[in-house]
Amino acid sequence: MHIDPAVYVRKAIRSVPDWPKPGVTFRDITPVLQDPRTFRVLIDLFVYRYMRQRLDLVAGVDARGFIVGSVLAYELNLGFVPVRKKGKLPYRTLAEDYTLEYGNAAVEMHTDAVRPGQRVLLIDDLVATGGTMLAASKLLQRLGANVHEAAAIIELPDLGGAQAMRDSGIPVYSVCSFS
Ligand code: PRP
Ligand code: ADE
Repeated sequence: MHIDPAVYVRKAIRSVPDWPKPGVTFRDITPVLQDPRTFRVLIDLFVYRYMRQRLDLVAGVDARGFIVGSVLAYELNLGFVPVRKKGKLPYRTLAEDYTLEYGNAAVEMHTDAVRPGQRVLLIDDLVATGGTMLAASKLLQRLGANVHEAAAIIELPDLGGAQAMRDSGIPVYSVCSFS
């Protein structure tokens, strides 16, 4: 491939103006997933980054973090745990509330999803305000996990979330940015 893989992935992301509300430009990853070449390049970027990091688990955020997180966990020969929207998990849970670019929400994990000291990679499709990733990191930390890094396909630097995560001591890796 003659093009930078991250640029190749970025070019496939669709920007939808004024969705889900006026003023928000939605960064849509479905075209990346739909094309087997961009999907593979995306997953391989993450695999090469994390294949020698001695991770124990991948935690993916509901819902788009499940798509990339579960494939990545499989490729790295690791287990996958879901960070779900509130009210979906059947067993004992811990919850964290947060705010989004377009609303409020809460995420939950099963209390036995992670063992203390496990090195966990947290993954989602996008970091905007960072509310979701921060809430997910807090849940993991409350369960005793060591959050190795928070990974995303897209970072929106103008909303400051990825920087806030880095400032709070959690490294963030994103494949590409949109301003
Ligand atoms: C989107 C996205 C991230 C979150 C990022 O999910 O997939 O999880 O917003 O925003 P933040 O950095 O401001 O927290 P959304 O809540 O829209 O849910 P969905 O994945 O179910 O569509
Ligand atoms: N989540 C929060 N902000 C978003 C955006 N602009 N595009 C896609 N997902 C988002």
